[in-house]
Amino acid sequence: MCGIVGYIGKDNNAGEVLLEGLKRLEYRGYDSAGICVMSGNKSKTFKAVGKVVELEKKIGKYRTDTTMGIAHTRWATHGKPSVKNAHPHSSGKIHLVHNGIIENYQELKEKLIKKGHKFSSETDSEVVAHLIDEYSNKNDFEQAVFAALQDIRGAYALVMLSEDEPEKMIAVRNSSPLVIGVADDGFVLASDASAIIQHTDKVVYLDDEELVIFTPETYKVKTFAGRNKYKKEQTLEWNDEQAQKEGYKHFMLKEIFEQPSAVADAIRGRIIVKDGLAKLGGLVDVEDKLRDIKRIVIVSCGTSYCAGLVGEYMLEEYAGIPTEVEYASEFRYRKPLIDKKTAVIAISQSGETADTLAAIREAKNKGGLTLGIVNAVGSTIARETDAGIYNHAGPEVGVASTKAFTSQLSILVLLTVFLGRQRDMSLTMGKKILSELNKLPKKIDEIFEDGKNIKRIANKYTKYESMFYLGRKYNFPIAMEGALKIKEISYIHAEGYPSGEMKHGPIALIDKDFPSVILAPKDSVYDKTLSAIEEIKARGGKVVAITTVGNEEKIKKHANDVIEIPKTLEMLTPLLAVVPLQLLAYYAGVKKGFDVDKPRNLAKSVTVE
Ligand code: AGP
Ligand code: GLU
Repeated sequence: MCGIVGYIGKDNNAGEVLLEGLKRLEYRGYDSAGICVMSGNKSKTFKAVGKVVELEKKIGKYRTDTTMGIAHTRWATHGKPSVKNAHPHSSGKIHLVHNGIIENYQELKEKLIKKGHKFSSETDSEVVAHLIDEYSNKNDFEQAVFAALQDIRGAYALVMLSEDEPEKMIAVRNSSPLVIGVADDGFVLASDASAIIQHTDKVVYLDDEELVIFTPETYKVKTFAGRNKYKKEQTLEWNDEQAQKEGYKHFMLKEIFEQPSAVADAIRGRIIVKDGLAKLGGLVDVEDKLRDIKRIVIVSCGTSYCAGLVGEYMLEEYAGIPTEVEYASEFRYRKPLIDKKTAVIAISQSGETADTLAAIREAKNKGGLTLGIVNAVGSTIARETDAGIYNHAGPEVGVASTKAFTSQLSILVLLTVFLGRQRDMSLTMGKKILSELNKLPKKIDEIFEDGKNIKRIANKYTKYESMFYLGRKYNFPIAMEGALKIKEISYIHAEGYPSGEMKHGPIALIDKDFPSVILAPKDSVYDKTLSAIEEIKARGGKVVAITTVGNEEKIKKHANDVIEIPKTLEMLTPLLAVVPLQLLAYYAGVKKGFDVDKPRNLAKSVTVE
C-alpha cells in the first residue's frame, strides 16, 4: 500500500518538504496524490490524479509559509483512482492520510451516516476522519484518535491533523509501515526511509499498535492502551536507493519477502472461518449468476496463467465446476465456445495486459459472465469485467511477478470456497480450508529460514544451460511457474512439465549436464513423484527436490539437493512450493550478474499484442 509523508517543525517550508518526500516515494507505484498543509489553524488541501508533478502544479505558494502538513501517494484499494478518492480525507477540522485497508469501514460508515455524516469519497479511509471528528465532540484530539482506534479493524498507517490543535500531529502504525525522521528543525514521518534520508539519518521505526504525538519540538510514543513507550533512535546506513528497497538488494527480493503480508492482505476481512465462508464484496452483484454457472474458463498470461492452472485444480476438485485455463493470446483468436452459463475469469496483476483484455472483450461478446482477479484498482480489466476481486497486494515493482502470484493463489482459494459453498462443499471442508489458509503467511515466513541452503543450491546449479522443472497435480503449475521465473531472471533455459510426462519424450534430454528441479511434497502423488526422480537419477540426471519438512532424510536417498517446505493441505502447497523456486531464480540471476529487477527484453505490463 502506498506512500505517506508528514512534517511538523520550525522549517516553514512544510509544503516543499512534503512534495520532496512524495517524489522519493514514487518508486512504490501509485495512481494519485494529495497534500494538506497548515498555517496556524488554517488548512489547505490539494489533490491530483496521476503523477506528483500534477499535484505540484496545484500547490503554488503553499510550498512555503507552512509549518506542518501531511501528504499521500495512493495505491487504490477501495474506490477508483480519482481526485475525490485521493487522500488526504477530511471531516470537519480533522484531516488524515491512510495506507492500508479498513476492514470494517462499511459498518462504521453506515453508523456515521445515521449520525448525519456526509461522505465525499468511495474510500475506506475517509471513515476514519469522520470517526475522529465524531469523537472530537466530547474529546480532545488525542483522546478522539484513541477512541477511533478502538472501533477500526484492518491494516493501517495513519497521520492526522486537527485545526483545533494546530501544534500537534498524530500518527498511528498497525500493519502498514511508518518511520520517524528526527531532524534538527522538526520531524519527518514517512512510509519508508527513502523520504527521510535527505533530512536526517536519525530514525525511529514504529511497531504495530503504536501511536505518536508530535509537536514542533518533541514526539511521544504510546501503545494503543495509552502507555508511554520508549523507542530507540537508530542511525541509517542506507543510501537513497537502498532506502527505497528498505535494505533489500533488489525489489524482487523485497517482494518475495513481502509475500506473508501479501497473502494476509488478500484474505483480510474475507474469511469467516466459523461459517466456512469466503466473503467477497466484489461478487455480491453477481452472486446469483455465479450460482448458475456450469463452466469456468480462466484467461491470463505468464505467471498469471500459472496461477490459473492452480485454480483449475482447486475449482474442479473443491467447487465441482468444470474449469479450463487458456493463454489469453490463444483464446482471443480461436472460436471459443462461451455462453451465459460460462464464467470467464481474467487473472492479471497489472489489469492492463492487452491479450487478457482482448480475451475478456471476446468473452463478453459471446455473452459470458466476466470476472477479474486484478491487483491494480481501476485498471482497464477491472473496469471492463462484470465483477471481480482485488488482490490488495500493493504495487509490484520487480518485473518478475512474485507476491502478486501468491496473492492470486490466495484469491483463487477464496473463490473456490465461495463457489464450493454455493454448491456441495460442506461446512467442515470450508472451515478446514479457510483455517489452514489463515496459517499460510506464517508458514511462508518459515521457508525463509532455509534461505542459505536455497542460495547454495542456486549457486551450484547456475552453471547449467538447461533444466527441467517437474511437478504433479497442484504442483505441475508450480513447476511451470518455477521454470518461467528462472528463465526470465537468469536466462537459463528451463522447461516446466508434469513429472508423469517425462517418459513420453523429454527424458531423452536427461544426462549429467541436464538437472531437474522437482516438486515432491508428501501429497497424494508423492510415490509417483519418487518414481520420476528415480527415472532421472538412473540416467545420470541431478535432482533438486522440494519436499515437506521432515521428509528430507528419506528423499535425500534419491535427490542430490533438498529444500523443505512446511506441511499444509495439498491444495495449498502451491502457495508454499513456489517460494523456494522464486528464490532459486533470484539467486541464480544475482550470481550471473543480471539486473533481476529489470530482466532483458521484458516489460512489467505487456500492453501490446
Ligand atoms: C511474470 O513474472 C511476467 N512478468 C509476466 O509473465 C506476467 O506475469 C504477464 O505478462 C502477465 O501480466 P499481468 O498479470 O499483469 O496480466
Ligand atoms: N485503502 C485506502 C484507499 O483505497 C488506502 C490505499 C493506500 O494504501 O494507498 O484509498
